[in-house]
Amino acid sequence: MAVNLTSVLITGGAGFIGSNFVRFFLRRHGESEVINLDKLTYAGNLESLKDVEGNRHYHFYRGDISDGAFVRRLFNEWHFDAVVNFAAESHVDRSILGPQVFIDTNVRGTTTLLEAAREFGVEKFVQISTDEVYGSLGPTGKFTEATPYSPNSPYSASKTSADMLARAWWKTFGIPTVITRCSNNYGPYQFPEKFIPLMIINALQDKELPVYGDGKNVRDWIYVEDHCEAITAVLEKGVIGEVYNIGGGNEVENIELAKLILARLGKPESLLKFVADRPGHDRRYAMDSEKIERELGWKPKRSFEQGIEETIRWYVDNRKWWQRIVSGEYQKYYKLQYEERASWSNSKRG
Ligand code: NAD
Ligand code: TYD
Repeated sequence: MAVNLTSVLITGGAGFIGSNFVRFFLRRHGESEVINLDKLTYAGNLESLKDVEGNRHYHFYRGDISDGAFVRRLFNEWHFDAVVNFAAESHVDRSILGPQVFIDTNVRGTTTLLEAAREFGVEKFVQISTDEVYGSLGPTGKFTEATPYSPNSPYSASKTSADMLARAWWKTFGIPTVITRCSNNYGPYQFPEKFIPLMIINALQDKELPVYGDGKNVRDWIYVEDHCEAITAVLEKGVIGEVYNIGGGNEVENIELAKLILARLGKPESLLKFVADRPGHDRRYAMDSEKIERELGWKPKRSFEQGIEETIRWYVDNRKWWQRIVSGEYQKYYKLQYEERASWSNSKRG
């Protein structure tokens, strides 16, 4: 059954994937009203949405998805047909340094949205989840939608909780939830605490590139626009109550990726610095996306070579965007993380 998409609530639309999705969705559904609800935490940045600010179908509200009164007012005003919930605390390292806010936003915030959807009614509620709920893989195999939950970080535990809540609100209350679980995204507007933008901007500034542990952890990289296209397919035609894995099919070792970035920027490998490993560090992620490919006809379009080339170029061409971040609040975090990392080497591992 086709979903009415006259008014769509996008939470976390000022973040990395959310801002790319707002732009993508406005292009695809030019007549929909797009309402972006974002708290503008350190990761939220309206500079990432400058080009859509003037669009009369785009509406921004600053607020917290855990704020029940605020969320209810917004639902009452707009009567959303659909919700896409990107809003989250998203960085594993920060969840090690301070887990509480991950529970507040990712668990309590998701519950608040589900409750509003229950009170006001929606046709579809897409919960944006992650491959990290499945835990870690050995050298072979891939995660399927049937792989059991096995989260290892406070971040992934909070995302797993949100998945379970979305499922329960469907089973118990009939709220039409669908869950998407995606692998590691990269592309324009990613906050430079995540691996790829951090490596690029450190290299551009001739700073060390911190590689955790032996650098042989593997991630399955997907270009952000391919993820946005997959979410749109799920929003338009995904089956309610289902889970869809979304992967890029690009498994790369961290150390290889760091070397590739240095090579593309003409920087020396002497900038690589092996540092203490992240506690609970998942070894390998790889997604089996067969279900979404077969059922919804989605496939990633960008090759990794093309995507990484475009991403590097974007950071080279958009220094202003990241320099503002690097010189501000991030500086504090960066220092803190370096100090904390010294204690990681002594902490307990699973
Ligand atoms: P991000 O950290 O770049 O953006 C998160 C956004 O949510 C920010 O704009 C922030 O201001 C907003 N936000 C945080 N707390 C909020 C709150 N309480 N109320 C309202 N807004 C709030 O994250 P991202 O990388 O764009 O990830 C978006 C979603 O996709 C997350 O749910 C994440 O778990 C999921 N995901 C990310 C990846 C990835 O590789 N980045 C992969 C799979 C899934
Ligand atoms: P990250 O971008 O934090 O994504 P996630 O942990 O959610 O997969 O990290 C990607 C990989 O890069 C992960 O194996 C941890 C590693 N990493 C480093 O080696 N150095 C760094 O400075 C960061 C941020 C990550």
